[in-house]
Amino acid sequence: MAKKSSPAIWGGRFTAGPAELMLRFSESVSFDRRLAPFDIAGSKAHSAMLAHAGLITAKERDAIHAGLDAILAEVAAGAFAWDIALEDVHMNIEAALTRRVPAAAKLHTARSRNDQVATDMRLWLKHACGVLREKIAGAERALLAVAAANRDVLIPGYTHLQRAQPVPLAHHLFAWLEMLDRDRARLADVAAHANWCPLGAGALAGTTLPIDREFTAKALGFTDARGRPQVTANSMDAVADRDVFIEFAAACALFGVHLSRIAEDLVLWSSIEFKFVELSDAFCTGSSLMPQKKNPDACELLRGKSARLQGNLHTLLTLVKGLPLTYNRDLQEDKPPLFDSFDQSALCADVLAGTLGGMTFHRERCAAAVADPALLATDLADYLVLRGVPFRDAHHAVGAVVRLAEKNVVALNLLPTTEVQQIHPAFGPDWVEVFDLKRALAKRTGSGMPGPAQLAKQFKRWEKILK
Ligand code: ARG
Repeated sequence: MAKKSSPAIWGGRFTAGPAELMLRFSESVSFDRRLAPFDIAGSKAHSAMLAHAGLITAKERDAIHAGLDAILAEVAAGAFAWDIALEDVHMNIEAALTRRVPAAAKLHTARSRNDQVATDMRLWLKHACGVLREKIAGAERALLAVAAANRDVLIPGYTHLQRAQPVPLAHHLFAWLEMLDRDRARLADVAAHANWCPLGAGALAGTTLPIDREFTAKALGFTDARGRPQVTANSMDAVADRDVFIEFAAACALFGVHLSRIAEDLVLWSSIEFKFVELSDAFCTGSSLMPQKKNPDACELLRGKSARLQGNLHTLLTLVKGLPLTYNRDLQEDKPPLFDSFDQSALCADVLAGTLGGMTFHRERCAAAVADPALLATDLADYLVLRGVPFRDAHHAVGAVVRLAEKNVVALNLLPTTEVQQIHPAFGPDWVEVFDLKRALAKRTGSGMPGPAQLAKQFKRWEKILK
C-alpha cells in the first residue's frame, strides 16, 4: 500500500479515518451491543459453514469458535471493552477476535454486515417473541387466578360506560384473557415470519464463493417443523426487508392497546365512584401533597406506555417508507425503537401480572352495583318475545315500564303487576321472576355467553391453555 490508509475495518480505500463527530453520529454499538450473543452464534455457524465448504480449515474454524466463546464470556461478564470507533457490535467483535485469532481475518468471507445484521436481528426477534410470550402467559395466569378467586362475583357489564347487563366478573376478566392470548398468538406468528435465514445474501447479491446457505440456516435453527432449513429467497429483499421488525412492533403496539384498555378498566374500578377493586399498595403510589391519596400509577403507566409502543411502530414504518432497495444506513435506526418495544412490553407484562396478582375485589360493592333490576330490562323484553310479542314492540313496552318506574321512583321489579299489564297485556303474573339474577344468567347458555355452564367451560379451557 502506497499511502497510509484509514484504521477502520473497511478503511482500505480511505486515506483518513472518520471525524470524531462522525464516529459519535454513526456508531450503533451503544445500542446494538445487546446483539452480541446472536452475532456470535451467527459467526460460529458461518465459520462452521466455511469449514464445511472448504473455504477455511477445521483448525481455523476451531480457533475462531474458541475465540468467539471467549469473547462471549467476556461480554457476559461485562468485561468486554466496546469501542465506538469500531462502529457497531459486528466490527467490535470481529476486531476483538482478530486480536486473538489470526484466522479471524477469514471470518467475513462471503458475508456482509448487511446479511449479518439481518440474521442477528431475526435471531433476536425469535428470542424476543419467546420471552414476551412467556411473560404475557404469566400475566394471563395471574388473571385466571383472580377469576378463580372471584368466581361467584357478578358485576354490571358496560356499554358507553353506562351499566348495561349483569355479567360474572370472571366473564369480564376472560375478555381480557382473550385479548392477551391473541397477543401471544400474534407473537408466535411474528417468530415464524422471522424464521428465515438471510445469511448468504451478502451485501445484496450473494457471493461467488461456494457457500452452503442451508448448512448455516440449520446450524442457527432457521428450520421448519420437520427440521428443514429455511433460507430467504431473494438476496436483495433479504438485506432490505424489515417487515418482520414492523410486525413485531405492531404486535407490541397492539399489546399496548390491550394493556391500556385493561388498565383503564382498573383505573375506573379502583376509583371511589366504582370501588369494585382494591389495588395492592405494591403497585400504587401516594401523592406528595394529598396524604389520603392512593393512586393507580401502575395502571396509568400501562396506559401511557401504549403511546410509546405505538410511536415505535410509527418510527419503523416511517423509517422504511420510500427507501430504495437495498440496504441503506437509515436502517441502523431500526434498532432503538424495536428494542424499546421489547423492553417496555416485557416490563409491562410483568407489571400487569403483579398488579392483577395483588388486587382484591369488594364483593359488596359489586353486588350492589349489579342489583339494579333495570340491568335485566332486555331479559324482560325477551320474556315478552317468548310470549309472542315482536321484539320491537317488546322493547317499546319495556321502555314504558322503565319510564313508569322512574316516574314513580320505584325499582323496576316493585311495580304492581296490574300497572305493568296496562302497558302490555302479554305481561303475566310471573313477570318479576325475570329479575332473579341467577336465573337470568343461567338462561345464557350459548357459546361465548356469560351463563354458568359456559363459564365453567371457559375456566376449563383457560386452565388447559395456561397450565
Ligand atoms: N450497524 C449497521 C446496522 O445496524 C450494520 C450494517 C452496516 N452495513 C453497512 N453497509 N454499513 O444497520
